[in-house]
Amino acid sequence: MADQRLVTTIAQARARRKQLDGAWGVVPTMGALHAGHLSLVERARAENDHLAVTIFVNPAQFAAGGDLDKYPRTLERDLALLEPYAVDLVFAPANAEIYPPDFQTYVNVEKIAQPLEGAMRPGHFRGVATVVAKLFNILQPDRAYFGQKDAQQVAVIQQMTRDLNLPVEIVVGATQREPDGLALSSRNVYLAPAERQAAPILYRALCAARDAFQRGERDGANLRAAMRATLQTEPRAEVEYVSAADPRTLAELDALQDEVLLSMAVRIGATRLIDNFLLRE
Ligand code: PAJ
Repeated sequence: MADQRLVTTIAQARARRKQLDGAWGVVPTMGALHAGHLSLVERARAENDHLAVTIFVNPAQFAAGGDLDKYPRTLERDLALLEPYAVDLVFAPANAEIYPPDFQTYVNVEKIAQPLEGAMRPGHFRGVATVVAKLFNILQPDRAYFGQKDAQQVAVIQQMTRDLNLPVEIVVGATQREPDGLALSSRNVYLAPAERQAAPILYRALCAARDAFQRGERDGANLRAAMRATLQTEPRAEVEYVSAADPRTLAELDALQDEVLLSMAVRIGATRLIDNFLLRE
């Protein structure tokens, strides 16, 4: 079914962008849309005159041997889910449109991209920053919407936007969750039923550390220990890292200040899940 709003080339996207004056919001995604993505779409719709959603499974942010090939691709379903939001432009380019054969320029955000996800997934944020910078240049949005679910991604994109003086306001939307606390993620479809049952352990571990923080615990090591202790009660959970960090620098904290980012990456079977809480006193 031909969809007038769906464009696949940069030239078409630029032409559509130029046709419509006023404030543009953009929601970058890799598709397989769920209620987490749609919460960003809804907010962007409300806060801007025009709305673009991008759907591009960005090969540059996947490790060799990662889940690029099996990453869910559900374009028809995604377009149907976007239907109620009257999106002005859905940009879903092919790989060669974004990375032509002679492509050779990357955006490398330094310190803030190094710990946590950056340490576990070398090159990941280089791929994210590069594609987001390209999408900003192609679509020239006034505002761009990202989820707190990917806390370090937000920090990297904010850093890039400041450092490169990109004229875009970065807006951060709250993490959307299943009723049992599991953060919505396109990768949740990989979970077998027993794994799906085990997956809310990340949320419960974050709650345990948050409760300790609210009771006055200000030692980062103790908060990390609280998260690990909860995760250890789930035999299917294999911890990659747990962190209690300064949200501005992502450096691990021992003596906590008034703000802390609790975050973790945990494998449940073959599926890698991440989650976080940003706590303020
Ligand atoms: P993707 O994983 O598809 O996520 C697109 C956006 O939705 C991101 O900003 C992400 O943080 C947000 N999101 C995902 N799950 C969410 C949830 N449960 N609640 C709220 N927001 C959620 O993140 C990417 O794609 C890519 O790295 C991208 C930025 C598109 C660059 O390729």
